[in-house]
Amino acid sequence: MFKDKNIIVGVTGGIAAYKAADLVSRLKKEKANVEVIMTENATKFVSPLTFQTLALNPVYVDMFKEPRNYDVEHISLAEKADVFLIAPATANIIGKIANGIADDLLTTTIMATRAKVIFAPAMNTNMYLNPIVQKNIEYLKKLGYEFIDPAVGMLACQTYGPGRMAEPADIVQYLKNSFYSKDLIGMKFIVTAGPTIEPIDPVRYVTNHSSGKMGYKIAEEGQKRGAEVILISGPTNLKPPEGVQLIRVNTTLDMFNAVKEYFDRCHALIKAAAPLDYKPEVVSDVKIKKKNIENDELNIKYIRNPDIAAYFGKIKKDQIVVGFAAETNDLIENAKEKLINKNLDFIVANDVSKDGAGFKEDTNVVTIIDREGIITDYPIMDKSEVAKIIIDKVKKLIEDKS
Ligand SMILES: Cc1cc2nc3c(=O)[nH]c(=O)nc-3n(C[C@H](O)[C@H](O)[C@H](O)COP(=O)(O)O)c2cc1C
Repeated sequence: MFKDKNIIVGVTGGIAAYKAADLVSRLKKEKANVEVIMTENATKFVSPLTFQTLALNPVYVDMFKEPRNYDVEHISLAEKADVFLIAPATANIIGKIANGIADDLLTTTIMATRAKVIFAPAMNTNMYLNPIVQKNIEYLKKLGYEFIDPAVGMLACQTYGPGRMAEPADIVQYLKNSFYSKDLIGMKFIVTAGPTIEPIDPVRYVTNHSSGKMGYKIAEEGQKRGAEVILISGPTNLKPPEGVQLIRVNTTLDMFNAVKEYFDRCHALIKAAAPLDYKPEVVSDVKIKKKNIENDELNIKYIRNPDIAAYFGKIKKDQIVVGFAAETNDLIENAKEKLINKNLDFIVANDVSKDGAGFKEDTNVVTIIDREGIITDYPIMDKSEVAKIIIDKVKKLIEDKS
C-alpha cells in the first residue's frame, strides 16, 4: 500500500514510545520507506537502535551531529516526506509546534515541511484535557494539522480516561485512508450487502450463506475515495467501514424499503446483497411444535419477495444500477439474462462453487458483463481489489452521463 511513500515518524518522550516500534514495523510491512526522528527525551524510553533495526534506516536525533551526508538533514527530510506522523505526540511537542518553537531536529523539520503532519497524542488524561493542550490542538487543527484522537482507557499512570495513543493498526489505517485520492467527492452511493433473513416463527428463520464481505469492501472503497455511502446491510458479523451510514435490515422487504427511501437522491445503487427471493407465506406468531405422530412433516409455502434490482433498474432515471449474479451453473447465460431483464448498467457474475469465489471467502473470481455485451473475466483477486474495479466502473458511467 505504501510503496514509494516516504513516511517520517517523529517519536517523542512518552511511555507510548514503545508502541511506535510496532507502528514502524507495520509501515515497513506495507512497503513504506520509513525515517525516524526521535527527540532526546524519546531516547530515554526506547533506544534509537530499535527503530534503526525496524526501519532499516539511520535514526536522527541530534541536529548538530556531524552530517552523515551533504544534505542538511532537517531540510532534506522535510522535503522528501510524503507524510509526517508524530507518534506518540507529547503535550510538549504539540505546544511547541503550536507556538512556532523549533529547538531540536524534530520540531525544526516539522516547521520546514510542506507535507501533511499528523499527530497521535498520548498523555495522562489531565494533561490531555488541560485547556492549554486542547487550545493548542484546536489551533493546529485550524491550520490543517491532523490529529488521530487518543483512545479512552486505563493509562500507564493508572488513571482512566482519554489519553492512550491510538493503536498502531488504526494509525496505519488512518494513513491508508489519507493516501487515497478523493475522486468521488460529491457522489452518493447506496450499497446493499449480506443476506436477508425471513422468519418462520418467533424462533426460526431461513437465510443463505452470504457473508456481506463483498458489499462491505465496496462501501469501504467508495467512502475512502470521498463518496457519501449508505450501506444497507442484512445481518453480518462484519465491522462496518468507518464513515459510512449503516442501515441494518432483516428481511428482503426491509431492504427494499430502505433502498426506496434513499434511491432518488443517489448516483448509484450497487446491489451486492443476496436477499432471499422467497419468504414463508405465513409467519406463525407462536413457536411451531413438532407433533407426536408417525411421519410428521412440516410444509411451508413460500411466496416471492420483491426483486430489488429489477424494481430499481426499471424506475431508475440517471442512476447507475449494478447487479450481482452468484450462480452455481450457466453463469454467463444467467447473468446476461439478469442484466437485460432487470435493466442493469452492468452485472458482476461469480460462480460461487469455484475455488476462491465463495460467499465467505476473502477473494473472488468475477466476470463483468456490461450493456454493450462486453464480457471481462478477472483472475482470482482479493475482494478489496474487486471493489476497486467495480467502483472505477461506476465512477466512469456516472461521469459519462454528466
Ligand atoms: C515516565 C514518564 C512518562 C511520560 N509520559 C508522557 C506521556 O505519555 N505524554 C506526555 O505528553 N509526556 C510524558 N512525559 C513527560 C515528557 O517526557 C516531557 O514533557 C518531555 O519534556 C517531552 O519531551 P519531548 O516532547 O521533546 O519528547 C513522561 C515523562 C516521564 C518521566
